[in-house]
Amino acid sequence: MPYEELKQRQSVMWGKGNYQRITETIADIHELVVERLAPESGERWLDLACGTGAAAERAAAAGARVTGLDLAPGLIETAKERAAELGLEIEYLVGDAEQLALDDASFDKVSSTCGIMFAPDHEAAAGELARVTAPGGRIALANWTPTGGMAKVFKLMAPYQPAPPPSSPFDWGDEQRVRELLGDSFDLTIEEHVSTLRVPSGEAYWELFSTSYGPTKVLADSLGERREELHRDWVEFFETNYRENDEIAHTREYLLVYGKRR
Ligand SMILES: C[S@@+](CC[C@H](N)C(=O)[O-])C[C@H]1O[C@@H](n2cnc3c(N)ncnc32)[C@H](O)[C@@H]1O
Repeated sequence: MPYEELKQRQSVMWGKGNYQRITETIADIHELVVERLAPESGERWLDLACGTGAAAERAAAAGARVTGLDLAPGLIETAKERAAELGLEIEYLVGDAEQLALDDASFDKVSSTCGIMFAPDHEAAAGELARVTAPGGRIALANWTPTGGMAKVFKLMAPYQPAPPPSSPFDWGDEQRVRELLGDSFDLTIEEHVSTLRVPSGEAYWELFSTSYGPTKVLADSLGERREELHRDWVEFFETNYRENDEIAHTREYLLVYGKRR
């Protein structure tokens, strides 16, 4: 599937379901990324592929002048409503991380939590990230690793997908690949961390993702009679591999990519 067609689908897909329920399961990642970038009053901050704004809100609450950008209009709408409710001034834009309508060197800090990795043209997204970060500016990205817990979820769904994706988002969780993409423009420090999602059962996990995680919801809703097959595979996978006493503890490994713009 060509990149443009995939992005067209993604702009709708990520907005399906109540994404807010999902973003709350990675609150520890938002905390870590924003803490690493240490927001300061008045500095210019961009949160790329911001979803409903969890990281943007944290940076704005600490005094940064924040822009949040995402491909999915539905999520940007929710992000705007949340900012109004929270009394936070955040500029939210619908846009593509591969083609940012933003000036060169216009941000001191750029964050992206499980976000930029989903833009399919990795070189284009990396180029834009470098272009908009001011010299001496900082970036912090959290990217799921190719062998970690979230990659396993996508592997579980893969046999049900009509076509393989044109590129793998999980390349952004591979240290060597990240150095290829960003190493010329940034001094990088890369660490591996784990975020654990705890739910009472495989069934509860299916309910959460099949109703609220765009990629799973859209796939499940497209399957007709095979939906039940994916449902069964899902529950069995988590009960077999991630049961810990009275709960499922899904360990999700990610790279924290921290960089200083040269
Ligand atoms: C897993 S969600 C993460 C959202 C948010 N950063 C968070 O922490 O909850 C992935 C996000 O990437 C966005 N996205 C995917 N491709 C994109 C692109 N090319 N440009 C901008 N955003 C994109 C999706 O719309 C979605 O909001």
